[in-house]
Amino acid sequence: MSVTEKQNAPATERNRDAILDVLAREFRAVTSVLEIGSGTGQHAVFFAERFPTLRWQTSDRIENHAAINAWVENAGLDNVLPPLVVDVLEVDSVPGDYDGIFSANTAHIMSFAAVIRMFEFVGRVLSAEGLFCLYGPFNLNGEFTSESNAAFDRSLKSQDALMGIRDLEALVDLAGQNGMRELRRYTMPANNMLIVWQKGR
Ligand SMILES: C[S@@+](CC[C@H](N)C(=O)[O-])C[C@H]1O[C@@H](n2cnc3c(N)ncnc32)[C@H](O)[C@@H]1O
Repeated sequence: MSVTEKQNAPATERNRDAILDVLAREFRAVTSVLEIGSGTGQHAVFFAERFPTLRWQTSDRIENHAAINAWVENAGLDNVLPPLVVDVLEVDSVPGDYDGIFSANTAHIMSFAAVIRMFEFVGRVLSAEGLFCLYGPFNLNGEFTSESNAAFDRSLKSQDALMGIRDLEALVDLAGQNGMRELRRYTMPANNMLIVWQKGR
């Protein structure tokens, strides 16, 4: 895979420093992270480079693997791994042990049926006391947290009626149903949030 096949997502470059600050705290005792929906692979390479003792396993639907591989191969890091095929609607488990799971900007792209499956998947795959960090825009108390999020939601739904910004309360319920409790909730730049759940023993 040549370097020219690497794809750039400008939003990923804008948000990565703020996410890095949170992960540096939340993943400080974590050794092995599975990323769901790695997208271009940019986050994976950026975080793996800054957390050299962390093993970062990328994953996504098969159509994104070429882009992820381009970033991973070009990085030349031994702690970021080529993607596993994970479509949460189709895959129940993955090889490996993970005490951390990270996913960014996925819950509003997936259908809600897929979001339900993602929480079930995380509940199964995460090791006991492991952490699930989910980043993105979320609604609070059924309301958009900003006009820009409302506009973003309209734009998503005009592309696909099944996409849309999720109510955080619904995600907290899903986490609870799958053995996870909310540990911390970070307010992030550009009307995003990062939620940290911990799986029980
Ligand atoms: C907006 S991109 C975010 C990519 C990257 N995490 C980032 O923040 O730049 C949404 C990602 O969700 C993934 N995705 C959508 N539906 C999925 C599903 N059913 N299972 C796994 N990943 C899915 C897409 O393939 C894509 O990589």
